[in-house]
Amino acid sequence: MSYRGVTALVTGASKGLGRAYALELARRGARVILLARSDGDLRELAAQIHERHGRTDTEVITGDLTAPDGPERILEELRDRGLTVDLLLNNAGAGSVGPFLTRPIEPQLSSVALNVGGLMALTHAIGGELVARGSGGIINVSSIAAFQPMPYQASYAATKAFVLSFTEALAEELRGTGVHVMAAHPGAIATGFFDGTTATINPRAADTPANVAARTLNDYARRRAVSYPGRAVNRALTWPARLLPRTAVARITGGFNRSQRLHEVVDLT
Ligand SMILES: NC(=O)c1ccc[n+]([C@@H]2O[C@H](COP(=O)([O-])OP(=O)(O)OC[C@H]3O[C@@H](n4cnc5c(N)ncnc54)[C@H](OP(=O)(O)O)[C@@H]3O)[C@@H](O)[C@H]2O)c1
Repeated sequence: MSYRGVTALVTGASKGLGRAYALELARRGARVILLARSDGDLRELAAQIHERHGRTDTEVITGDLTAPDGPERILEELRDRGLTVDLLLNNAGAGSVGPFLTRPIEPQLSSVALNVGGLMALTHAIGGELVARGSGGIINVSSIAAFQPMPYQASYAATKAFVLSFTEALAEELRGTGVHVMAAHPGAIATGFFDGTTATINPRAADTPANVAARTLNDYARRRAVSYPGRAVNRALTWPARLLPRTAVARITGGFNRSQRLHEVVDLT
């Protein structure tokens, strides 16, 4: 399960799951390139990687994947610094929670731009380089939310359904090129994903970021097509949507999310 000799670009590395991916990759011997908007948090993480693993070659790239020229500026930065990526870990993602019509539209459009647009742009550019070299790979972080419509997380689940479909299709297009493409579908993770809203993640029903990161990287190293890097029930939860009519599934997930009070979510002031 060693990642020695691998240079990995981790998007959304400043906190949550991305931070855990960066730490776990460094622990396994990879050189990491940390990407997010929060420069201070990324530099603090690079210092921690140095302290824990003795690595002085961690790179920090501060960039906004939703800015119109965001992905292009990030790619330019990689080129200017002469960095060659072996593993693209598209982890950065943002949620939208609450009733679609009563929540502001801007954060939801921005979540689509990040979860879909940013991921696609980096995959297109770096995927092309990987295929030219005939090695390396891409991990796209989706979610078990990808498998069914999710009332009160409507646009978020739709972005993750995009990531699921897109990743499966791309994996097939790149089969035989030497480039491995894998989607990861975590369930709830104890991160600050819902920060700024009244929604919360119950830590007892959630996996730790460190566990999810380690399992994802194990699955990628085994060249699995897909990873369910959380507790076993997460994978089982993806099955009803494959077996039941989609309207029934939407009703069930809507009922579940109402029981979590997601229909009442408001921003914290
Ligand atoms: N937490 C869960 O329960 C859960 C479950 C399933 C799947 N996931 C998926 O796991 C991934 C990580 O989620 P998380 O829970 O770790 O979220 P998080 O704690 O909110 O972290 C999100 C990361 O994305 C970065 N980011 C946000 N907007 C960005 C932008 N415009 N450009 C570049 N980076 C940006 C953030 O850094 P800056 O703010 O510094 O830019 C941060 O590092 C996401 O794809 C999410 O959908 C999460």
